Amino acid sequence: MTDTELPVRVPTPRHYLMCPPRYFAVDYAINPWMDPSRPVDTELAMRQWTALRDTYRELGHTVDEVPPEPGLPDMVFAANSGTVIDGQVLGARFRARERAAEAEHFRRWFVEHGFRDVTMPRHINEAEGDLAWTGRLLLAGTGFRTEPAAHAEAQEALGVPVVSLRLVDPRYYHLDTALFVLAEATETAPAQIAYYPGAFSRGSRRALERLFPDAVIADADDAACFGLNAVSDGRHVVLPVEATALADRLAERGFEPVFVDVSELRKAGGGPKCCTLEVRK
Ligand code: ARG
Repeated sequence: MTDTELPVRVPTPRHYLMCPPRYFAVDYAINPWMDPSRPVDTELAMRQWTALRDTYRELGHTVDEVPPEPGLPDMVFAANSGTVIDGQVLGARFRARERAAEAEHFRRWFVEHGFRDVTMPRHINEAEGDLAWTGRLLLAGTGFRTEPAAHAEAQEALGVPVVSLRLVDPRYYHLDTALFVLAEATETAPAQIAYYPGAFSRGSRRALERLFPDAVIADADDAACFGLNAVSDGRHVVLPVEATALADRLAERGFEPVFVDVSELRKAGGGPKCCTLEVRK
């Protein structure tokens, strides 16, 4: 493809919900990235998070903040606490008891900010950690955190078609560590996604190939630096500074990479997307 044939990517303004890492720490290990013996610099995490938030604002997006709570060091990973489509909110139910209390803080934020339709799941559901909205389908990960029964529950609560996908590599324990939506489907164009096939079972890989034959295919290095834990507004793709190879491939498709440093947050197994819950009204 020559430059003149590059598709024009049109960004759309987004509304994000984030939670500052004021009490960020790695006190327990619930994924292979977390090592409680390794020191964490909470102030550095705050600076990296602030730069991420300001990046969204500079791109013209709205960012709201949920107040952080002492004793909930992973609360910065807001994406795990809610899935919002057409103003309907499906909250979270965490697998790890250490994170259980986060769900209620986010539920309360939604209720206090005028969301009328807020459902809390009965099955383990780590929200946008495992649920990705393409504009048509809700791609739903399972294998490590969110239960398959939560996928059916999400379909009922949100009224959207759900496609279950099985994750098989413990390093990619949430769907949002292995797949992201570059551009939602429109009237005239299908959704664009990027994913790392190695994170998925054989059957799920084949399902992804059928649904998204034009997907950007990421490799092991792209995934290992959390390159797929990215946030796209349809044009700008906010992703970790290490993900240069993936960024080049996205640029070839007309997307504009925007780099952020999330080295400190990665010590808990998170990246830009984990910190970012999208409020779709
Ligand atoms: N320490 C957190 C956990 O293991 C990290 C969550 C990252 N969030 C995400 N959306 N992948 O639950």
